[in-house]
Amino acid sequence: MLKRGPVRGLAVDQAGVMLWMWDALGQATFFSPAWLEYRGRPLEDELGDGWIEGVHPQDRDALTDARAAAIRSQGDFRAEVRLLRFDGQHRLMLLQGSPRRNARAKFEGYVGWAAEAPRGRDGPDLVRLARLSTMGEIVAGLAHELNQPLAAISNFARAARHSIRGHETVDASAAEALDQIAEQADRAAEIIRHLRRFFRRAETQRLPVDVSRLVREAAVLLEVDARIHGAWLELDLDESLPMAAVERVEIEQVITNLVRNALEAMGQTPPDRRVVRLRTARAPNGWIEVSVEDAGCGISPELAPRLFEPFYTTKPGGMGLGLAISRSIVHAHGGRLEAVPLAKQGAVFRFCLPPSGHGGPP
Ligand SMILES: Nc1ncnc2c1ncn2[C@@H]1O[C@H](COP(=O)(O)OP(=O)(O)OP(=O)(O)O)[C@@H](O)[C@H]1O
Ligand SMILES: [Mg+2]
Repeated sequence: MLKRGPVRGLAVDQAGVMLWMWDALGQATFFSPAWLEYRGRPLEDELGDGWIEGVHPQDRDALTDARAAAIRSQGDFRAEVRLLRFDGQHRLMLLQGSPRRNARAKFEGYVGWAAEAPRGRDGPDLVRLARLSTMGEIVAGLAHELNQPLAAISNFARAARHSIRGHETVDASAAEALDQIAEQADRAAEIIRHLRRFFRRAETQRLPVDVSRLVREAAVLLEVDARIHGAWLELDLDESLPMAAVERVEIEQVITNLVRNALEAMGQTPPDRRVVRLRTARAPNGWIEVSVEDAGCGISPELAPRLFEPFYTTKPGGMGLGLAISRSIVHAHGGRLEAVPLAKQGAVFRFCLPPSGHGGPP
């Protein structure tokens, strides 16, 4: 069953992800099992400043300076240090953290991850690589942990549906709700299976797909979400698009993430203006473009540079992974995903994909 980790319910056990947390003074208050395994030390030895004993003496000052500077600015933390591994070897590690805030936006310290720096690489490339591989591990770990409870939800819902069959006293809408529960749990399990395959770099199956049709099918499922948010969807689809070679579940996932964000951004929008516009079109360069426009809170200049950062979220229940995952998926298809600034209210997110037969990323 799902073990809840301290990071907003993120399951960390068995995930193989080296996560850490600091309090507002920079004292470590948590390490994930993967960290402890890597270090070969028990939690109590690592807490506080204990873990710094494992940092190479020549890197310690730079590390504590970077930590102090991050805490002063309450901004991002990033450092590269040589860290002692369980086998007594020093390895170059990339540590990166984001400030944690409580519901009243009060600074409470940091949450971050660590990853071994791949050999022979440095600079921004390294950051990207480490980010991606860590995200992949997180997704693989989450997928692993979520599979079982999702299967359980689906089975329980079907069992309940079965046991009320033929009972005249039972409201028909209750039976329908049970069907919906089972269906949604199956859908979630399917998405997770595909994400896992995607991040494992396993062969995913890319077939020619009519993207407008894909958007229309995704919209049918998203109607439920829209209704819950008191909003509606409007489609403006180009019916003569060329095909794109895509893994449909993955692109569907991108559309879903963007529409969910759009819906979540319209909490303060008057109900009669809560519309999400889904458009497909052919870009001047022949690529296929999908855009999701909302009339929500929009994207402030401070927010814009951080949108796609893993774990960056402004929502109390958010994981901050939706856009990061979506961008990875679109990039893997040779495409691009970006936020387009809007002069009027709201935001537009747009991604484009090369038509099938195109040689890949430009
Ligand atoms: N359409 C939008 N309008 C305004 N802000 C947005 C929009 N989409 C995303 N954002 C901002 O970008 C942040 C990151 O989005 P992302 O989808 O990556 O994570 P999230 O929605 O917070 O959590 P989750 O992992 O559940 O998707 C959001 O918290 C929000 O502040
Ligand atoms: Mg999101």
